[in-house]
Amino acid sequence: MERKDKKYKFTNKENYEDYSSGRVLYGAPNATNFPVRFSSEIFQRCNDYLSKKGKQGPYTIYDPFCGIGYSLSVMSFLHGSDIKSIIASDVDKTMIEFAEKNLSLLTIKGLNTRIEELQGFIEKYKKDSHKESLESAYRLKEKLVEPIGLQIFQFNILTNEPLLDFVKNIDIVIADLPYGKLTNWEDVENESNPTQRFLDKVRDRLSKESIVAVSFNKKQKVEYEGFNKIKAFTLGKRKVLLLEPIKFEMKTVDVVELYSDLENLGIKVWIDGGWGVDALLGKQIREHQDLDIAINQKDVEPLLKTLTKLGYRELKKDNDHNFVWADNFGHGVDIHAFITDKNGSIIGGIMYPNESLTGLGTINAHSVRCISAKYMIEFLAPWLNKHPHKYLEAISALCKKFKIEYPIEYIKFTK
Ligand SMILES: C[S@@+](CC[C@H](N)C(=O)[O-])C[C@H]1O[C@@H](n2cnc3c(N)ncnc32)[C@H](O)[C@@H]1O
Repeated sequence: MERKDKKYKFTNKENYEDYSSGRVLYGAPNATNFPVRFSSEIFQRCNDYLSKKGKQGPYTIYDPFCGIGYSLSVMSFLHGSDIKSIIASDVDKTMIEFAEKNLSLLTIKGLNTRIEELQGFIEKYKKDSHKESLESAYRLKEKLVEPIGLQIFQFNILTNEPLLDFVKNIDIVIADLPYGKLTNWEDVENESNPTQRFLDKVRDRLSKESIVAVSFNKKQKVEYEGFNKIKAFTLGKRKVLLLEPIKFEMKTVDVVELYSDLENLGIKVWIDGGWGVDALLGKQIREHQDLDIAINQKDVEPLLKTLTKLGYRELKKDNDHNFVWADNFGHGVDIHAFITDKNGSIIGGIMYPNESLTGLGTINAHSVRCISAKYMIEFLAPWLNKHPHKYLEAISALCKKFKIEYPIEYIKFTK
């Protein structure tokens, strides 16, 4: 029996020639080819970590630097039964075209097309190498586990643009960071720490138990604020970091502290969202990942200055009126800014009805401004069908306490 390489825990040296780039999988002139064993080892380490945490596969994987989709394709052929869906993006259009071709091989239809193509090459060129490729293609076909969901798109992970909506509930992020001449970082002119930027971008798209595997050139310095290191190891020339996100949670003490700090500085905010409900009820009925606040746009600048001093930074920006700031310890604030005219009426930004900003609540015996009960119920009701576990109890408790009629959505849902 072959002895396992010390650094490789889950894989042996095997013959991986069926997966060689250019054989069945497509190769591209400017693309890197990672050893098959490397990709397989990383996937299995992630799988092992999640399984031990009690989260069994199949998993959703996102690779924001997918290149030609080589690592993803190889992982899927080797571990397809543990993969539910694959989301792949890259900044480079040509890379994405190749990724589409390679990942299409994970479907019977795509692989049959490749088989026909190889058969055509054999007839035309009569080369042994094409015959070998065809044999590999047949062997890969036997390994196919359909269906794996596929989403492939061109995307610069460093932009301010939000990630597409379907990038969510990710269990495993695979990130072969750009390095060297072949695969440089794109668009880093204004970015001193691109890796941190990428980690910030994916942080709120991860599922409850998730893992991020970052591999990089040994010379690169990688920071990972907001994440804990699970393990670091070296495989060949690449260093690998396995990271887990620090869980987001805004506890009572965090909310009271932040609200009091802002109040002392004369920065007026209204508590919205889950904490708004709990403030109105005067008790916490569920845990909250973040604190939603409404604020006048003119107060945003002092708010952000204060948050910066407290160690927060921008995590996500939907637009100038809605953005999320977070620190590295799992605290997050979702900011909703409205614009008023000289009379104080709301005329832009997040269009809160004027009367909605009249609520008063208590959090841990501290009095706070919040959305009024009537509007809170109105805001939550349309979401009841989608998130009943979150909103059923909240709406019912608010209606009871404030003697407000149950909304139609609640009546329909509970019928
Ligand atoms: C090391 S390669 C990844 C190779 C990939 N694992 C594969 O199997 O083909 C890094 C990739 O990062 C991409 N990249 C560079 N800057 C980027 C950015 N700002 N956003 C997204 N992708 C980027 C490059 O185009 C390159 O394809």
